[in-house]
Amino acid sequence: MNDPIISCKSLTKTFRSGAEELKILDAVNFELRKGSICTVLGPSGSGKSTFLAILGSLERFDSGTVRVSGYDLGMLPEKSLHIFRKEIIGFVFQFHFLLNDFTALENVALPRYVAGIPRAEAWASARKLLDLVGLSERAAHYPSQLSGGERQRVAIARALVNAPAIVLADEPTGNLDAASAKEVTDLIRELPSATGTTVVLVTHDAELAAVGSTSYSLKGGALECLRS
Ligand SMILES: Nc1ncnc2c1ncn2[C@@H]1O[C@H](COP(=O)(O)OP(=O)(O)OP(=O)(O)O)[C@@H](O)[C@H]1O
Ligand SMILES: [Mg+2]
Repeated sequence: MNDPIISCKSLTKTFRSGAEELKILDAVNFELRKGSICTVLGPSGSGKSTFLAILGSLERFDSGTVRVSGYDLGMLPEKSLHIFRKEIIGFVFQFHFLLNDFTALENVALPRYVAGIPRAEAWASARKLLDLVGLSERAAHYPSQLSGGERQRVAIARALVNAPAIVLADEPTGNLDAASAKEVTDLIRELPSATGTTVVLVTHDAELAAVGSTSYSLKGGALECLRS
């Protein structure tokens, strides 16, 4: 059997504020197959964003091991983590974080351009991805000229532009109305077959959570498998 693309063993994360200690992840074990979608549900404050941030190396952890796409995150120096984030991970957040002074096409192309890819090639990748998210005709629109769902689809295209092995999505429909949330949900469902990426997404939205081929609930420091 193929090695899992993500594997956490006895992962523990505690936040301390003053004398108080908050155990967010308590010896969590987790594995995910390449090309699958995993959804994580859980009440507000249960640690979903923290878990995702650890997988994306945006947050350090206390103990245990976290292996993501062959990288042992606990062992990597800060400099390599930077490369890991850029090359392996695509992030999608609740708020789209598009740059207002750039068009949809430019927003998608930018991370590719920044990665040192020649302009024409970066633009070509961006066009392909706008096509994938169904927004070819909005390429020249600025974020203010897009609907909420369209903006989030541009943000997803941008997350994909450096061909990441893994997309980490934190409440990607959290700011959207029902119709826009459905557009984004439909798009996320297709990502593994369209691009080969693996997706981990955390959400409150039961409909979005249903896109997961596996689903977990995070509560009281424990990650419980709901469906596999
Ligand atoms: N840097 C920090 N220092 C101290 N406590 C923190 C820090 N970051 C998060 N926490 C606490 O850890 C807990 C988990 O936070 P997290 O943002 O991961 O929850 P969440 O499940 O994503 O919640 P939501 O559904 O509201 O987004 C919360 O109680 C939060 O207050
Ligand atoms: Mg959160």
